[in-house]
Amino acid sequence: MKLKLSDRITKPDFQGEFTASILAAAASPDIISFAGGLPNPVSFPIPEMEAATKKVLEENGVTALQYSSTAGWPALRKWIAKRYETMGVYDVSPDDIIVTNGSQQALAMIGAAMINPGDEVIVEDPTYLVALQSFHVFDPVVLPVTMNPDGIDCDELAETIRNHPDAKFAYLIPNFQNPTGLSYSQEVHDKVVEIFQNSNVLLLEDNPYRELRFAGTATDSFGKELGEQCCMLGTFSKIVTPGMRIGWVCVRNKELRAKLLAYKATADLHTNIFSQMVLAQYLADNDVDEHIEKTKVLYKAKSDFMVECLKKYLPEGCQLTPTEGGMFLWVTLPNGISAVELYRKALERGVAICPGDPFYEVKRNVSSFRVNYSNSTDEAIEKGIKILGEACAELLNA
Ligand SMILES: Cc1ncc(COP(=O)(O)O)c(C=O)c1O
Repeated sequence: MKLKLSDRITKPDFQGEFTASILAAAASPDIISFAGGLPNPVSFPIPEMEAATKKVLEENGVTALQYSSTAGWPALRKWIAKRYETMGVYDVSPDDIIVTNGSQQALAMIGAAMINPGDEVIVEDPTYLVALQSFHVFDPVVLPVTMNPDGIDCDELAETIRNHPDAKFAYLIPNFQNPTGLSYSQEVHDKVVEIFQNSNVLLLEDNPYRELRFAGTATDSFGKELGEQCCMLGTFSKIVTPGMRIGWVCVRNKELRAKLLAYKATADLHTNIFSQMVLAQYLADNDVDEHIEKTKVLYKAKSDFMVECLKKYLPEGCQLTPTEGGMFLWVTLPNGISAVELYRKALERGVAICPGDPFYEVKRNVSSFRVNYSNSTDEAIEKGIKILGEACAELLNA
């Protein structure tokens, strides 16, 4: 049979296969992988989930095993709406929350609801590669805006919006950005607010790592100042578990909310209700802040140790982007050496990193790469970074 695939899935800029290969490398027992973005399993609350599951099945088993509503489990939406108070946003209603199959599904839903072929969307450069891929499914023109150490380049952002006032949305990750680990300073945050207040562009704020801050202070969510002009995406993947696939989108514009709900209903009817109810029960019966605190202590130690190893084993001239939280470090090789070369060399030696290319809309053969520190033992970090250093030195001396 000759397969008759769609144009969208066969386009060269659809890099889904690359993501799949990174996930495969991350799952292989023979590889030391710093390539994925996996939370440390030590942080998974297994006994607490077991207790919550038992309680849900005993007290509400029929509802948990039945079809449910598209927007999501009311108790969970209530919890999420209240959580926005910790981000400075006090006027979120549970009705504004749609529970999604990870925040990844929210990205796909927004792409489907907003992008016609040829529409413009603005992203940070670099940005989260799977967001880029989800948007590309709908054939947009992607307008990348440089990321500086203190956040998006505001002059470039203002100019981009001035030149492209009809851009559908700007996708921003203000805390511990994937891939760079960078966060927006208060000054950049305030400028971004001003730029959007003078525009007709929706701000799509993706904040999966905000709660994983182990130093410095966080800025509030853009939704505080921008109200319904800002859609806020969130997830339990990095603070409780990614396996339950529970994320959300907080959308205060009623028309957009109705369209997203209609689209989600056609995509999957609703997010796994059993998972939603178990998670809501877990949140009701446990102190999640205490849990997050423990995770942060663990990640800070891992981050410190990986920084120490990178400084020790990488050849001189490699630059490291410091971070105050999240899961990633971003390293840049000297002399314009392509990180894809390093990715290949390191993989031959059993170490996986994530080269920078797929995080950029246009640039190729970039010298930067991302390493994840949350999910490796200290032994693996030391061994893997030493091997990476050797591969790097070989490239530099070639
Ligand atoms: C910036 C960003 N957004 C969204 C996601 C998707 O997360 P999930 O679908 O698990 O909520 C990730 C996952 O790594 C991410 O890094």
